[in-house]
Amino acid sequence: MSKAWEASAPANIALIKYMGKNPGNAATNASLSLALKDFRTSVRLECSGDDSDRWDPLPGSTPLRRESTEKFLRFFAQLKNEFSIKENFLVMSGNNFPADAGIASSASSYAALTQAAMLAFSEIKKIKTPDINSQAALSRLGSGSSCRSFLGPWCVWDENKIYAPDSSAMPELMDIVVIANADSKKVSSSEAHQRVRSSPLFNGRVERANLRLQKSLLAMQKADLNSLAQIAWEELWDMHSLFHTSVPPFFYFAPTTLLILRAVEDWRDEIGHMPITTIDAGPNVHLLVPAKEYSLWNERLEKLAAKSKTPFSWMHSHAGI
Ligand code: DP6
Repeated sequence: MSKAWEASAPANIALIKYMGKNPGNAATNASLSLALKDFRTSVRLECSGDDSDRWDPLPGSTPLRRESTEKFLRFFAQLKNEFSIKENFLVMSGNNFPADAGIASSASSYAALTQAAMLAFSEIKKIKTPDINSQAALSRLGSGSSCRSFLGPWCVWDENKIYAPDSSAMPELMDIVVIANADSKKVSSSEAHQRVRSSPLFNGRVERANLRLQKSLLAMQKADLNSLAQIAWEELWDMHSLFHTSVPPFFYFAPTTLLILRAVEDWRDEIGHMPITTIDAGPNVHLLVPAKEYSLWNERLEKLAAKSKTPFSWMHSHAGI
């Protein structure tokens, strides 16, 4: 059997969002995310002896769409080029979360592909495996948010660097993602990055996001979950307001998105605080809660689902790499 290299990487969810990128997936503002270690992509690379690289799903996983496969292999070719690799490979990948779960898989996919490629290329070229920051910088070229899947539980991406901020005071968190609508998106996040620049609200966006990042880091040092929840709430509305005011405008919210956002407000009125709530470029709502309160929040969602006319489901992941 031919030699194989394997790696796996987690998805991540941003509290301070990367949105409105420059060429080369260079972020206009610094972002902050939590790695979701239970939502992962695995990648396996094998030297194939074929005339070109080929992609296959890992056994049991769903095939990618043609455009996604092409983009994935194009990025792999870019990595090979960077390291002057002439061999061709069978590239296999698969997620451990369902394709229709509505969880973005580009971060975990590109991070896992970069990690597997670095293992393979350093062995083939007999060189030292590049350090985490260099790997993350390469991965970013494939998909910006993937560079934050190299560190955890928390990761800051600021210009060309990633670092783990001080989270020693923070409790262990769990991400509960409510699946509001699993249909594929009309506007991809890559397109959203371009379109938000046409919004009149893009003016001042970089300053607002960077200020929120500074406030979040201070709140983390004090384990001030209420401030983090308030900051994440402002940030979610800031990013989605950019979507809603782009030219032409677009939006991702589904009826369940609003149902959950209203429930978050009701819970806040009832118990005095809300979970750290965020939404990516999609309709699903992420509720970040202390791991020890997971069953309480699960019960709250069960109650809400029981009286909701629209059925919805949710999944959860522990925070960590
Ligand atoms: C809304 O990393 O998916 O999830 O660099 O084009 O691959 P590309 O974009 P992508 O953008 C993620 C946008 C976001 C916010 C975030 O994760 O920070």
